Amino acid sequence: MPTSAPVTAIAHPNIALIKYWGKRDPVRNLPAVGSLSVTLAALCARTTVHFDPDLAADQVTLNGREEPATVRRVAACLDLLRRDAGVSCHARVIAENDFPTGAGLASSAAGFAALVTAASAALGLRLAEARRAEIARIGSGSAPRSLYGGFALMRNLPDGGVLCEPALAAEEWPLEVVIAVTDTGPKGVSSREGMEISRKTSPFYAEWVRGHEADLDAALSSLRRRDFFALAEIAEHNCLKMHAVTMTSRPPLLYWAPATLACIRVVRGLRDAGLPVFFTVDAGPQLKAVCAPGGTSEVVAALRTLPGVTRIITSRLGQGARVLASDA
Ligand code: DP6
Repeated sequence: MPTSAPVTAIAHPNIALIKYWGKRDPVRNLPAVGSLSVTLAALCARTTVHFDPDLAADQVTLNGREEPATVRRVAACLDLLRRDAGVSCHARVIAENDFPTGAGLASSAAGFAALVTAASAALGLRLAEARRAEIARIGSGSAPRSLYGGFALMRNLPDGGVLCEPALAAEEWPLEVVIAVTDTGPKGVSSREGMEISRKTSPFYAEWVRGHEADLDAALSSLRRRDFFALAEIAEHNCLKMHAVTMTSRPPLLYWAPATLACIRVVRGLRDAGLPVFFTVDAGPQLKAVCAPGGTSEVVAALRTLPGVTRIITSRLGQGARVLASDA
């Protein structure tokens, strides 16, 4: 294969309202449960891919650093793309995030969505949506959701496959998200490790999986009706169940900082007072407050003064992954 032109793609992180936690097949990275997410416009992962026959191995930098674990995960996705394209040539991959990496802000989801989008374009591949999602999922289970804008749904199919598809466009329900950053250091236990620990040790894990489909159906129904308060109730319930599973794992996984709980209390207080807002928290200490359209200012004002909140990021819902430029 001749050297390809460098192709750059961008993708945004997504935040799960109904969470993926646990794998039914760790080798193929198949999720045990479905999930529903929103894609955030304000944060961005940008990846440039350049296939070069002179390279002896894939070269991968993330925010300027080359880490063996990241290189392995990127190479696994590239191997599938190379196989589909019928080429063997290695690639130079330059990935940058404009937000903290590995801190519970879904950087890997955005990164792998951008990688698959850029690399498939660089190889001239016209992948079916399902194949694109499958390859992104090998990189990170939540990455297929960042291929889409607005609300994205992932669901296990009866035949053992996984479906990822847009559930609602951003314009159809333009919710906004306020992120209260409480700690930007990388988390101690990655989602990948954490969900395996939970699967093997939490006494609540089986119950989490058993009840999950009903949570997903309830959330989808509230989405169809644009019923914010119904979505708030099921999303908070599902989030707290996930954290009940992490906290009861052995060793326990405590992803929250003290400020995370303080933020949760504030958000609940605002909603009790009638404000359309709810919280969600992933495998890290940042609090994400989801607000009805135009409702962020009171939430920002209430969260920004809390001790331990170091930064506030507000975001509208964003678009899916897309190619930016090809420097032929
Ligand atoms: C808590 O997608 O990062 O954010 O598939 O092992 O790469 P791997 O895990 P990852 O896990 C995300 C977990 C979560 C919930 C979610 O995004 O659904």
